[in-house]
Formats: sequence, structure tokens, C-alpha cells
Amino acid sequence: ILPNNVTIIEVGPRDGLQNEKRHVEEEEKLAFIHLLQDAGIREMELTSFVSPKWVPQMADAKNIVEKTTKIGRQFVLAPNAKGAELAIESGAKSIAVFVGVSNSFNQKNINRTTAESMDALEPVIAKLKSDGIFVRACISTAFYCPYEGKIEKQDVVELCKRFQAMGVDELSVADTIGMANPVESYELFKLLKEEFDEILLTAHFHDTRKMAIANIFAAMQAGIDRFDTSAGGLGGCPFAPGATGNVATEDVVNMLESLGIETGIDVDKICMAVEKIAPHVSHPIETGRYRLYKNR
Ligand code: HMG
Ligand code: MG
Repeated sequence: ILPNNVTIIEVGPRDGLQNEKRHVEEEEKLAFIHLLQDAGIREMELTSFVSPKWVPQMADAKNIVEKTTKIGRQFVLAPNAKGAELAIESGAKSIAVFVGVSNSFNQKNINRTTAESMDALEPVIAKLKSDGIFVRACISTAFYCPYEGKIEKQDVVELCKRFQAMGVDELSVADTIGMANPVESYELFKLLKEEFDEILLTAHFHDTRKMAIANIFAAMQAGIDRFDTSAGGLGGCPFAPGATGNVATEDVVNMLESLGIETGIDVDKICMAVEKIAPHVSHPIETGRYRLYKNR
């Protein structure tokens, strides 16, 4: 049984660009964001309030948030109290925190153990919730870790339970390095759906091994109807070496459309947004295949 509607959370401007070596100008990012909104995107990760020493591409976070049209949920990432404070100052109303199930990954990404990150986030999330902020929790390395290998499902459930107790509104569960297969996707999301039915559950797939689209189909069969995707398949995490970008928004919308599942998103306009950002990133992105058979 497949859903009738699916919500796409566009992560291109954040996950997509954070790992981009070439500096992308603020104006180019804003044009990309506004074209994505124009294509029907109503939930998006705009940027991150992280250390500019660690992730230089996100150093313009404040300007990006201030200059973006506020429509639907426009998320900004924050790894700690300082990030959350800066995000609030810039006017963000939806904040995403992030933690890895794997300690080794969390150390590389946030310079803390998973437990240290969770302890530090507890008062941060309590404050955000009391201020009426929508809090999304991104769970990295939910399937495989680039340093520790296979992750136990139970460890993912435990971390999600802790976030649930803190009152988060959404759990976005990630295959950070794009190693999961469709059976693993189905099994983890089926379990999470049973355990966390009261909370918004989202799946976040990177596409290193080109299994993301199959993993999305499997997650839908497990009852998931929210997916993080990135226009043009941009992206990757600087602290997960070798992993490629997220599954491409245009590929996912195209599949959903052909299955009769509504997203409210115009694939042609997503391709226009990709064409706008393409000259500013350091690898070629191709969207021509969507136009090829269009009028048959
Ligand atoms: P640290 O060096 O341990 O930080 O880094 P610290 O607390 O010791 O502070 C050191 C300096 O950084 C201080 O400044 C702080 O003020 C500053 P100084 O006194 O030296 O001038 N600082 C900050 N500046 C701006 N924004 C902040 C901030 N916090 C401290 N929020 C830290 C710890 C978390 C800051 C660092 O490790 C970091 O920025 N990490 C971010 C890593 C990142 O952005 N990763 C990618 C996003 S997650 C992802 O892609 C996965 C996801 O897509 C899901 C999936 O696919 O798995 C979500
Ligand atoms: Mg990611």
C-alpha cells in the first residue's frame, strides 16, 4: 500500500551545498532557494549555523535566513546552543538539530560523543519548544557508519526515543553514506513507524550506490510519506568521506508522479532551479533526460 501524497523536504541549499568546494555566492544560493519555492517546495533546509571553520560554505547562514521568503517550513541546522541562538536571532522558526547514532561519526562531525551531544541538546530543545519553534531531529548513520560499519536498529530506536522524550516534532532518519538496501530500509522504517507513530517521520537517503530511489519505495511500503531530497542530487557530508549527494528531488518527484502520488511539486521547475545552480558548482549536473520524452 502506497501513500496518496508525499511531502518532499528539499535539502539542496544545505546538504547539497555544504560540501561544495567552490564558494557559492549568497545571491546564487538565494536565487536557487526562491526557484525551489517557486517549484512548489514548502519544506526546505536553507542553511546551517555551524562553525565557519568546519564548514566554510555555510558562513553566510544569517544572510540566507534573513533574505529568504518565509513560506511553509524553512529549516536551519544547529548542532549546539550557539547554533540555536544564532538561528533564533536570524528569525528562523524551524530548527533542525543533528546527531549521529555512531559515536565515531558524531566525533568527526560535531567533535563530541553522541551522549555528550544529546546531553548538550536537551536544554537547547526544551528552550526552543517553549519558544514555539518547530524542532526536527536529524539522525545520522542510522544504517551504516563510515568508521564503525553496520548500525544496530535498536541503537537507532534508543536515540529516537530520547529525542521523542525531549519533545521534538520530527525525526529525519538518515542513510548518511548511501549504503542501505531496500530490505534494510523497509525493516528500519517499519520498526520506527510502529514505535513513533505520534511523530513526523522522514527518511533521508544519500545515493552513493544508486539505491536511494529503491530505498524510498521500500520506506513508502513501510508507511513513510516524508522524504528529504536534494535538487540535482547535490551534496554530501564533509565528515563522511566518499559518500555522494542526496537522492535527486527530480528523480523522486518523477517516480512519485508516475505512481500517481501527489507532491505538489513541478518537476520542470525543479530542473530550472538545478540549471540555475549548476554553473556555480564544481561538477556537472544534467537534467535533460526529463525533457527528452516529455511530449510523447
Ligand atoms: P568545536 O571546535 O568543538 O566547537 O566544534 P567549540 O564549542 O569548542 O567552539 C569553538 C569555536 O567555534 C568557538 O569560537 C565557538 O564560538 C565557535 P572561538 O571562541 O574559537 O572564536 N562555535 C560556533 N560558531 C558558529 N556556529 C556554531 C558554533 N559552535 C561553536 N554553531 C562544532 C563543534 C559543532 C561547532 C563543529 O564541530 C561544527 O560546526 N560541526 C558542524 C558539522 C556539520 O555542519 N556537518 C554537516 C551537517 S550534518 C549532515 O550533513 C548530516 C545530515 O545531512 C543527515 C545525514 O545525511 O546523515 C543532517
Ligand atoms: Mg545528509
